[in-house]
Order: sequence, then C-alpha cells, then structure tokens
Amino acid sequence: MSYQPAHTDRPDWVPAGLDTGAPSMARVYDFLLGGAHNFAADRAVAEQTMKLMPGARKVAQINRAFLGRAVRCLVDLGVRQFLDIGSGIPTVGNVHEIAQSRAPESRVVYVDKDPVAVAHSELMLAHNDNAAVIAADMRDPDSILNHHVTRRLLRRDEPIGLLLIMMVHWVPDSDDPHGLIARYRDALPDGSYIALSHVTPDERQDQITDAKDMIKQSRSADQLTPRTYDEVLRLFDGFELLEPGLVGCGVWRPEHAGDFADNPELNSHVYAGVARKA
Ligand SMILES: C[S@@+](CC[C@H](N)C(=O)[O-])C[C@H]1O[C@@H](n2cnc3c(N)ncnc32)[C@H](O)[C@@H]1O
Repeated sequence: MSYQPAHTDRPDWVPAGLDTGAPSMARVYDFLLGGAHNFAADRAVAEQTMKLMPGARKVAQINRAFLGRAVRCLVDLGVRQFLDIGSGIPTVGNVHEIAQSRAPESRVVYVDKDPVAVAHSELMLAHNDNAAVIAADMRDPDSILNHHVTRRLLRRDEPIGLLLIMMVHWVPDSDDPHGLIARYRDALPDGSYIALSHVTPDERQDQITDAKDMIKQSRSADQLTPRTYDEVLRLFDGFELLEPGLVGCGVWRPEHAGDFADNPELNSHVYAGVARKA
C-alpha cells in the first residue's frame, strides 16, 4: 500500500507532548524532501542548511535514491527481511514498498526515535502484516533486537538487511558507533548485509562544518558528526563491501538520471556502501 503524506500542518497529527520548537532532523529531512510533516523550527534549520549548502535538497534526494537501489540490490541477493534504523518520516519509496513490490513476502522493521516519524509510520503500516515500526534509539541495541516486533517479523535463521541510511552521523564518537554496529553485526544471521550512508566533510569541509555548527546552535537534540572516508570505512568492520565499494552515494551503481547530481561535488557529500557480513 502506498502512503500519501497529508498536506497539512494542523496539530491533529502532532503526537501529544511534542516540543515543536526544537528542530528534529527527521522533520528537517522531511522538509528537504518536499514533505509536509515539519514545523517552523525544522523549516528554519532546513532553510539555513540550504543557504550554507545550496545542494542540500539534491543531496537528500540522491541519498534517498541510493536507499532504493540498495534495497533492490539486497532483494535480488535473496534478502527478504530488513531492519531499517533511522527510517525517518514516510516519503516516496519506503523500504517495505520497494522490497514488497519485488518480493511480496518481504518483512520490514522500521526504527526511529522521532515521535512524528513513528506516528506516521504507524499510520502507513496499519494494514501491513509484514511491516511495523518501533520507537527506539539506535544507541540501545537491546531495545531493538529484543523487541517483540523484531522477534515477530525478523527470523534469526535467514539473512537480514540492516539499513543505516543517513543515520550514523547522528551518533557521536562518545556513543561508540563502531561498538554499536558491532553489536548489530554480531546479532545478524550469517549471510546478512548492511547498507549504510553517511555525511562526510571530505568534499566541502567549509559547508559541512558550517552546517554542523548551525545545528549545534539550534535547540535540536540531533547533533551532526561528519566523518572522513577512512572513518566511514571503519564502520564496515566485519563486513565485506560489494562493488563498487564505499563511494559517493550518487555514484553507487546509478541507474537513472535522478540517481546522481549533475554537479559532481554533490554526489560525494554522502558516502554509501553495501556490504556482506564476513
Ligand atoms: C536524515 S533521516 C534519514 C531517513 C532515511 N533513513 C533516509 O535516509 O531516507 C535520519 C533519521 O534518523 C533518526 N535518528 C537519528 N538519531 C537516531 C537514533 N539515535 N536512533 C534512532 N533514530 C535516529 C532521525 O530521527 C531521522 O528520522
């Protein structure tokens, strides 16, 4: 079933108790992708991001296109179950739609810590027995891996596609992203895969540093940790990268014109790779 976001800013979809004055990266990203589930504080951060990084919208779009190609690649490799952490607010081309259109029996567990992302995912999935969302934080692997929804939908005796798309740069070094990914990796059945994309300062350190500082000055709980090529590569420890390795998301097996930016610089603000558990 495809989900059409409502074009409304009315408070009827706002989860109770939500502090709409503090920007959330789920909603900033929703705005960059043209979605309607965001508030003035989110739009202010998105607009400042676009001023600092004129290609920000395009970067979000080509990251989203990478997500689609990665899921199709994994389905073609036989993966029928996905754990999508930092899944975001539903938009065009959600993981269960892509996977189930290719293999209808595919099962998907979405995870996000943002209440708006979770509420809209619940709405979207109300009638889908093979997909569900968990409100949880990536930094608490037990709460995700042992969740009854994960246990119901993901079998431990067949490969899982772990998706960490534009997610790990929200985990600071002090929270040990390598250790966290190792926890997930060790819990994945043999033959499982990871697909990961991550913001880097390598291409335009000036723009990314300005964006990072701007987010720091906002009231957001999400803080950006851009990482270099080698730092992102290390996140794949214990996995073997598929061709073409870790590359800019726009040049990871592009299929159509919309998969990459005409301005080559934009293709490399976000590194992306898909890898098999070693
Ligand atoms: C930029 S969006 C990416 C959405 C989607 N994965 C994509 O690439 O299109 C990042 C998402 O990660 C979520 N997020 C950030 N930190 C998180 C954490 N520690 N645990 C779970 N979700 C988190 C945010 O709420 C947001 O929805």
